[in-house]
Amino acid sequence: MSSRLRLVLACLATTALLAPLAWLWAMSLMPDEYSVMDMGYADHGGGPATDDVAGHAGMHSAMQAGETSIVEMTANPNLPADVQMTLRAEQQEFELASGHEVDGYTLNGRSPGPVIRAEEGELVEVRLVNESVPGGVTLHWHGVDVPNAMDGVAGVTQDSVREGESFTYRFVADQVGTYWYHSHQLSHEQVQGGLFGGLVITPRRGEPADVDLPALVHLYDGHRTINGHEGDVPVEAMPGETVRVRVVNTDNGPMPVWVSGSSYRVVAVDGTDVNEPTPVNAQSVLVTAGGRADLEIVMPVNGSSVRVEMGGSAALVLGGKGPAVAAVEQPSLFVDPLSYGSPASLDFDPDEPMREFEYVIGRRPGFVNGRPGLWWTINGNMFPDVPMFTVSEGDVVRMRIENNSGDVHPMHLHGHHALVLSRDGVAATGSPWWVDSLNVEDGESYEVTFVADNPGVWMDHCHNLPHAAEGLVAHVMYAGYSTPYLIGGKGENKPE
Ligand code: C2O
Ligand code: CU
Repeated sequence: MSSRLRLVLACLATTALLAPLAWLWAMSLMPDEYSVMDMGYADHGGGPATDDVAGHAGMHSAMQAGETSIVEMTANPNLPADVQMTLRAEQQEFELASGHEVDGYTLNGRSPGPVIRAEEGELVEVRLVNESVPGGVTLHWHGVDVPNAMDGVAGVTQDSVREGESFTYRFVADQVGTYWYHSHQLSHEQVQGGLFGGLVITPRRGEPADVDLPALVHLYDGHRTINGHEGDVPVEAMPGETVRVRVVNTDNGPMPVWVSGSSYRVVAVDGTDVNEPTPVNAQSVLVTAGGRADLEIVMPVNGSSVRVEMGGSAALVLGGKGPAVAAVEQPSLFVDPLSYGSPASLDFDPDEPMREFEYVIGRRPGFVNGRPGLWWTINGNMFPDVPMFTVSEGDVVRMRIENNSGDVHPMHLHGHHALVLSRDGVAATGSPWWVDSLNVEDGESYEVTFVADNPGVWMDHCHNLPHAAEGLVAHVMYAGYSTPYLIGGKGENKPE
């Protein structure tokens, strides 16, 4: 063989090897600016493929005749505000209570931002002002099923708020419970850096606890904090008093919580009250990343203190005038919400789903936007080639979430609460277990159901926020609705 022929053959062989890779690389490139409606492919879940939905998802982004823009999905503008506040977002250095300096973000000069409290049925109006966050900001009301235009997702339900600009959120606080808010612009960076706060909605009737304490747990530069305080955080409580600790896990991974010096009850999960919660002893409760658990503790009458351990490196110390209780090791047994509490009747029939979706999470090598890596997959495909779960208003939807990816994923659906039906084929037998953030371990599968009763376009993503930034994001979209907002481009909307 001549050396020239050998060279040509070698070149051809190289091309044959590289061409498919180059093709995969080129196919993965994202346009500079795009609509979520152009992402991936429509998945109708076995339900009717209504024309207006079929036209979207991978086909075009322009609004079609007869469609409702999600911009219109707001609270009644004629309702006066009951709770009104302004939150000013800044990029700045701030100090934790211990003096540790954090280079991050604040709301009204502090992180976490203020806890917003509202009574059931009140209209909450929050004006977000971007004082100095160069990347832009938004506020998402995690766990609150707000009208779509108030959901705070940059490039999906609004444009990010640039420096010097403001945006006003309005919603009726009709869901009692523990929630939180955080930026949904560059969220993997901004939430970690402190751009979040608590939201508590209390019932109109009923006895409040003697001590009601939101506990936002967050890692700043690896320092675990409760409401910005490290280590043991003292809380006043008198013997015999009832304390409600509203644990909010604002981090990217699951957190075990346990109590020493008293039994406790898990009275709410993700904002929904548990039906007939029973006393728990020597068990941990796992709080999903982004999720919440409300613990109720009755202070011992002998005046001794009670410790609520948050992940093991920070704790609330309740009471404390009497003898101090010793910290105990984390109980290896966990409260299982699948069987905790008692069943209660539902106001819909979960056994007659109109659509059934699969959300199977895997991982494999490939390209996302031209970057090679080991990426998450949804139903076998990588971002942005992900399903657009399309529903019609009123549908009962069933979704099977399965995780074969080698890592845990806290799955978060916006705008809805889902009822857990089963885990690994074992049916739920306890209190109805409603979630907005579900901890799905590697190798686990869950069946959940929700009623499509909040029209718009909703994210359905992993709340380990770096995972979301790596493409573990899909959306639920209602037939007949469309969003005018775009991700990327000059608006620089970057929801993850
Ligand atoms: Cu807590 Cu999509 O967010
Ligand atoms: Cu994840």
